[in-house]
Amino acid sequence: MEKIAILGTGYVGLVTGAGLADFGNHVTCVDLDENKIAKLKDGKIPFYEFSLGEVVQRNVDNERLVFTSDLAKAIKGARTIFIAVGTPPGKGGEADLSQVFGAARTIAETMTSYKLVVQKSTVPVGTGRNVHELIGKVLKERKKNVPYDVASNPEFLREGSAVEDFMRPDRVVIGTWSKKAEQILTEIYRPLYLNETPMVRTNVQTAELIKYASNAFLATKISFINEMSNICEAVGGDVKVVAKAMGQDRRIGPKFLHAGPGYGGSCFPKDTLALADFSKALGVPSAIVNATIAVNKRQRQSMLTKVESLVGDLEGKTIAVLGLSFKPQTDDVRDSVALELIKGMQKKGAVVRAYDPIAMETAALELKNVDFTQDAYEAAKGADALVIATEWNEFRQLDLGTLKKAMKSARVVDCRNIYDPAKLRDAGFQYLGVGRGFDGGPNGAPAAASGGSKAKASKKAGKAKKKGGAA
Ligand code: UGA
Repeated sequence: MEKIAILGTGYVGLVTGAGLADFGNHVTCVDLDENKIAKLKDGKIPFYEFSLGEVVQRNVDNERLVFTSDLAKAIKGARTIFIAVGTPPGKGGEADLSQVFGAARTIAETMTSYKLVVQKSTVPVGTGRNVHELIGKVLKERKKNVPYDVASNPEFLREGSAVEDFMRPDRVVIGTWSKKAEQILTEIYRPLYLNETPMVRTNVQTAELIKYASNAFLATKISFINEMSNICEAVGGDVKVVAKAMGQDRRIGPKFLHAGPGYGGSCFPKDTLALADFSKALGVPSAIVNATIAVNKRQRQSMLTKVESLVGDLEGKTIAVLGLSFKPQTDDVRDSVALELIKGMQKKGAVVRAYDPIAMETAALELKNVDFTQDAYEAAKGADALVIATEWNEFRQLDLGTLKKAMKSARVVDCRNIYDPAKLRDAGFQYLGVGRGFDGGPNGAPAAASGGSKAKASKKAGKAKKKGGAA
């Protein structure tokens, strides 16, 4: 049983703290925000994350998980300290590390015995070295010769399935510069090790890069398939079929090949920008990551063009938007394409009605003049078009008849490709997906891959394509 302090009770800190407590360690989660700590002590999780509340409660009840604002006491009481504070993007896209260095400084100012300082939040390569130097410098100023280690243990948690990802990771990455640090971290993660989770043991800088390389690669996969979706739209191909066939090649794999409105959230946009930024500063700029960022920006903006291509001038038009969070199973709207699209449509004079099962409260803080509704059908009332911006499960089986009746014009922009284009067209909707070409074939016959719909749908689709969207 290791005594652990986790600095920062944001998303990463809280999931890590609860998870490590569940492994049998004693964990103190620290946050300077006393309000937040008071709520946590009351069993209230400050954000929505599936099953996290349960794990927190279980470990609070076991007395393995405690919350405090008393940083000094938490540092003194722990041997291993995880830094899980925020690293928001700075002005130039670089990660703002002031909270990380602030935490490291406080540790150095407070420690009186050996500490293992583990960097958990995502930081540019080289930060571990800087943290190590900073702690050494402060200790020197204090004239204290206290031993310490710095390690990197990046997280690979997806919002919405973070608890599951923590309990059953594909791998655990442990970056250290000493045997002692490696042993302590291996011991902390022993329950996973017993489960045969691969452990990657390496140095700190390699561990730091693994995190960025993983996120940037996934982001690149998304931008790649989004580019293919544009080509599909130009040639009348179907990107879902392209992605499926690509994914069947085990060297490629099927995951993160869903074409859509571009990636969002608090990680991919920030991490790709930071990687582009620090690789440039190191004199080894990443052409691929820069292209990934550019493609994503274009893809996000193209969603507005799609709506316009279906509806025409947006001035005075009513648009229903389903889904506000950057992905399902979360109330997080950071860098959500839905919000960018809504703001863009409003600028062009559209009236927006929106519904999300979980994220309306968080979205309301970012949006103005949006009519939030009780459900999808209410959002669709009198709408000139319906936009599916986030693929919540409850949007996958909408009653098309009810929807059509509610809307002024039966038009759907499906940014997440959750509907079969042929089915919607057969139900009398004008439909645009992402990369869902609808080629009539050389003889004008419906393409087999699109579900074998009617020739009239093919014609309609052809018209929509001419206007600049997918058919
Ligand atoms: C991502 C990574 O998946 C985690 O492994 C990582 O730990 C985390 O960032 C982090 O750095 O903290 P997350 O941002 O929660 O997790 O969400 P993802 O499920 O990866 O989705 C990111 C974005 O990509 C979303 O906007 C999603 O809609 C989009 N996406 C994802 C696609 O457009 N297509 C896909 O095929 C997959």
